Amino acid sequence: MKLTGKILLSAMALAATFTQMSAISIVPKPSRMMENRSIVHLPSDRLKVHASEKGLKQTAFVWAESMKKTCNPGTVQLETGFTQIVSDVRLPEITVTGKAKGADIRLSIDSSLSEEGYTLEISQQGVAIKGGSVTGVWWGLQSLTQILVQAAPTSDGRCMAVSGLYIEDQPHFAYRSAMLDCCRHFFSVDEVKKYIDIIALHKLNTLHWHLTEDQGWRIEIKKYPLLTEIGSVRPETKIGLYGDKSTGYDGTPYGGYYTQDQVREIVRYAAERQITVIPEIEMPGHAVAALASYPWLGCTGKDYTVRTDWGISKDVFCIGRESTFEFLENVLDEVCELFPSEYIHIGGDEAPSVRWTTCPDCQKRMKEEGLTAERELQGYLLKRIESYLNAKGKKIIGWDEILEGGVTRTATVMSWRGPQGGITAAKQGNNVIMSPNNYFYLDYYQTAAPKENGEPLGIGGYVPLSKCYSFDPYDQLDEETRQHIKGIQANTWTEYIKTFDHVQFMDLPRFAALSEVSWSESKDSYDEFLSRVTASMKPLYEYFGFIYAPYAFNGVR
Ligand code: ACM
Ligand code: ZN
Repeated sequence: MKLTGKILLSAMALAATFTQMSAISIVPKPSRMMENRSIVHLPSDRLKVHASEKGLKQTAFVWAESMKKTCNPGTVQLETGFTQIVSDVRLPEITVTGKAKGADIRLSIDSSLSEEGYTLEISQQGVAIKGGSVTGVWWGLQSLTQILVQAAPTSDGRCMAVSGLYIEDQPHFAYRSAMLDCCRHFFSVDEVKKYIDIIALHKLNTLHWHLTEDQGWRIEIKKYPLLTEIGSVRPETKIGLYGDKSTGYDGTPYGGYYTQDQVREIVRYAAERQITVIPEIEMPGHAVAALASYPWLGCTGKDYTVRTDWGISKDVFCIGRESTFEFLENVLDEVCELFPSEYIHIGGDEAPSVRWTTCPDCQKRMKEEGLTAERELQGYLLKRIESYLNAKGKKIIGWDEILEGGVTRTATVMSWRGPQGGITAAKQGNNVIMSPNNYFYLDYYQTAAPKENGEPLGIGGYVPLSKCYSFDPYDQLDEETRQHIKGIQANTWTEYIKTFDHVQFMDLPRFAALSEVSWSESKDSYDEFLSRVTASMKPLYEYFGFIYAPYAFNGVR
């Protein structure tokens, strides 16, 4: 944390009166936290927030709104077979006041702090949160949310008692992200907003929004209306496990897409919560829904249907024809208008080259470009698309297969087939986001014996909370290459996840590990982490009625 001499002195003075205690638990673990023995009473009916600057007022309103309990206390029976508790904890109503005097919570900017950094002090004067920017204040408010949920009511019920404390905090990684696959199954605008709320509570700052797939194209593109008219609906869906011939198909069309107005609404909602939305437009693979809409995009040019089962398709974009590039550039023009993010994710994973070997246009392209293997066609496409996007002021992210077709130094590599792709990319100088399947694929099972534990049918794998928490993003990297690791992401692929209840069940509490591994500078033991998750995140999930898996709290590791 960047600290001026003055702040350093006052921090040291505070340190003299504060002791290291842990009555309050925060996840992710703050850079520095001290509690003292004083008890501060805050009103339990209404908390008044004052923002010293205009830009902060909006954030204060957004936080006040976000603190409202949305579920009635009781239990919720889930489709997954689990019962979720919604606690009867009630938090004070939060109101934003124009007057600094008498405010319980005071928000201000302190430019000596790093952009996402904040300090939070609870004293007899109330709560003071200072941030390096609005974003820093917002993360401070997320810590305060956790503190309020843990506050004990006084015996007369009129106040909440919290210990005096001082926190200095800032994130380790600038990119802290969750990916939601809205293609295999579709989630409504309200559900995506709730996902953003959950992301924010974990101090993650990015939603990677997976919007195009073999099984459904989910974003309206004005120039190509058939992408949503045809490409957003599959005729039916595979029942049970992929490859299990005994289970068949459900015979029911399945679809959904986001209009451009809805996309703008979601991007705005996320921005108000200091979260960037990065769209993923897949190329050259995972594109069957686009091919079904406009068959001239594929090498064979005919007989495509939006896919009804899972796995990898041989049918991908034709890289030989110029019409494919015209299409992709037109799509990206609209996408860039909708998403202010610095990055656009262009996919790049799981694109077999078999169609390119027999396509005269692709073969012609190889000859013209002097390419000796079909695989290099992918590199050709991505380089062209990258320079197109660069000219529009955007940068690209691609899954780690982009390393195989020849990648520019300026592309960011998202390492998903374990950490190895990321390690290779960092060593050759590319920026990296670590999203390894063996640590952060949240569609994987959470226990070693999923059937016996009653886990809902899943894609496989085994990633308990302890495994997520054990991830070391710097493994095998020296000081110099470490700087290329820009962050960490968890992915929720939804082939087997049909409902938003189930999404939450897969992500919580594993998001807590994602949060801590990406935010906190140092780690303690798993047991220490779990005790903090149990004390802070579990009641938070129960307060808001978010659905979480019970396994880690029941001792699974
Ligand atoms: C991926 O899981 N195919 C990126
Ligand atoms: Zn072709």
